[in-house]
Amino acid sequence: MPTESQAATVTVRDRFLADHRRLEDLFERLLAAFKASDRELVEGLWSEFDAGLSAHMEAEESHLFPLLLASQPREVRTLAAEHKHIRARLIELGIAVDLHLRRLKEMQGFVEELRAHARHEDSILYRWADDHLGTAERTSLFGALTKCPGKTPRRRSAYADASSSSSAATSSSTFTGFVK
Ligand SMILES: [Fe+2]
Repeated sequence: MPTESQAATVTVRDRFLADHRRLEDLFERLLAAFKASDRELVEGLWSEFDAGLSAHMEAEESHLFPLLLASQPREVRTLAAEHKHIRARLIELGIAVDLHLRRLKEMQGFVEELRAHARHEDSILYRWADDHLGTAERTSLFGALTKCPGKTPRRRSAYADASSSSSAATSSSTFTGFVK
């Protein structure tokens, strides 16, 4: 768990951009495993990536979006819509992983989408957070970033996720602060 001293010395921007890079590296390793047709490695890396990205988005939705909402509602709506899109892509690609489909082009496209989203969050969210969050808020935020959603990485059934309403895309932690 992050300590208060860590939260006082590490900026939100540095911590979250580092997490984006970590997820990107994980995804690059996943692509390499896909190309090598190493199914076991693909499944392990996918679970780690899926859990890491989900925790990252949940931390932002729980600890940053509600704070930014009052002053920049339009920007928060846009970022939340991007998260919704990313979750839908996670489900699609998770199904491909489960079915051992080689969707290399889609996978490469996804990493480009994640990079664009990270740049967007950097310009809107992280810089704002460093100007407005106190040490206690940062401590909670950094703690949420390292928390695994549901404790264990999801190993999903391709068919269950395609039809179930209990998937990650509709998890209770999905940001709903702007629902009209
Ligand atoms: Fe982010």
